[in-house]
This record gives sequence, structure tokens and C-alpha cells, in this order.
Amino acid sequence: MKKEEFIIAGNWKMNKTMLETKKFIDLFIPMVKDSRCKIILFIPNLYLKESVKLLDKTNIKVGAQNFHWESFGAYTGEISIEMLNDIGVYHALVGHSERRVYFGETDEEINKKVKKAILKNIDVTLCVGESLEQRELGNEKEVIMHQLKNALNGISKESLSKINIAYEPIWAIGTGKTATPDQANQMCRFIRMCIQGMYDAESGINLKVLYGGSVNIDNCKDIIIMSDINGVLVGGASLDADKFSYIIKTSDKILIEGNK
Ligand code: PGA
Repeated sequence: MKKEEFIIAGNWKMNKTMLETKKFIDLFIPMVKDSRCKIILFIPNLYLKESVKLLDKTNIKVGAQNFHWESFGAYTGEISIEMLNDIGVYHALVGHSERRVYFGETDEEINKKVKKAILKNIDVTLCVGESLEQRELGNEKEVIMHQLKNALNGISKESLSKINIAYEPIWAIGTGKTATPDQANQMCRFIRMCIQGMYDAESGINLKVLYGGSVNIDNCKDIIIMSDINGVLVGGASLDADKFSYIIKTSDKILIEGNK
């Protein structure tokens, strides 16, 4: 598959103060200003507004890590998509395994969030991934298929252009234990095939599938180069401007070399 663009996304999780965020952004903007990648930073909700301002007129997009599917109401501690739209945020993660595992997010809730995001013109990076136990039992494909079917229930083929899927095996997140490039590629291909089965061949081909789970400066090249991978979702290594920009520059090099 010829790759025209990579999506390189950073998931900061619950890290950095405002001062640290600003320092990162000031350093990072010039480092990646010529990149051909689509760069997204998923920043803690509290600093989204300021980050949107700091990143205005740059090639770096700002995304939310979470939101509620209702527009307003008695949901203490939550924020809505309308609030994100209000401050100029048009990207969001949905269904990260930490939300599923630590905060009990269900497939049904994830589906409501995907639907709401599409309705409100927010680009979604939908995360799916199996646990170590599920992989050891050989159930990873079944689990991923189930997560995809539930999350995308009622989503039209046309809306798929607003959705990227991130394959993030739970056993590889924050553990330093990456899936091998072959394992990652196989699962990303499987996700493409699921989408093909649920929609059609064109949808499968056009789908952008990212890999996430302990991506770092040492393994990024071998992962990004794989045939069915369109980018990476980076946690720990995205907190460091040097490391994250290295991953972006590596991806740019692959794009340039691949398109010679
Ligand atoms: P990690 O996190 O790169 O620190 O493993 C990835 C993620 O959770 O998105």
C-alpha cells in the first residue's frame, strides 16, 4: 500500500503542568514545522484551550483524551463535545484501554461517544486492544472484532473518514514491551479486514490504522514501515519533544524514501 501520510499522535495522559506544556510546545513547533505527517497531541482537558492558542497556525492539531456523549446536564466532572467545539478542539481519543479498564467504560458508552463525535464533526481516534490474558488464550482477533463491531454500531460508511483506529494491545502499553512489527502489522491488517467485512473493500483500504504501545525512538522505524500501519499513537515518548520529534522525522524520511 502506498502511504501518502502518516498520523503521529501523542497521548500525554495525565502528565505535564501548564508551564511544562508551554515549554514543550515552544520547543516542539520549530522541530516539526516542515513535517508532512499529521501530528496530533492529546493533551489533558484543562490545558486544551491554551494549547489551541499556542498551536494556532502550526501543523500540530490538538485533541481531547475524553469527553461525555451528552451535550450538557448533571454529569459531575465531565465535559461535552460542545465545550470542545467551543474552544476549537476537533480531535478526540475514544475508548483508550485506560478508560475502559480504570474507569469502566463500556462498549456501549464508547459507541455513544463515537456517534456524538461524528455528529459534532470531531475526528475520532478509536482505540482497541486485547489484554495479555486474551492474547495468551489466542482470543485477540475475536476481542478486536467485538470491540470494533460494538464501537462502530450504527456508524455509516461516509462517517468512517472521520475515524482512525488505533490498535493498542494492553500488554504493550507503558510496559516497554512492544508488539513485534509483524504482530502489530498482522493485527492492523486484521482490523482493515474487519472494516472491509463490516462496510466494503474501499472502506478497508482507506482506513487509517495506527499502532500504539511502547513506541519509542528505537522501534518506531520498524513499526511505521510495515505495510498496514498508517501511523503511531505514542504515550511515554510523546512527553519529550526530542523523542517525539525524532519519531515524526523518522516517519517523514520513510514517506520521502517510499515515494521516490
Ligand atoms: P505508551 O502508551 O507509548 O506509553 O505505551 C501508549 C498509549 O497508551 O496510547
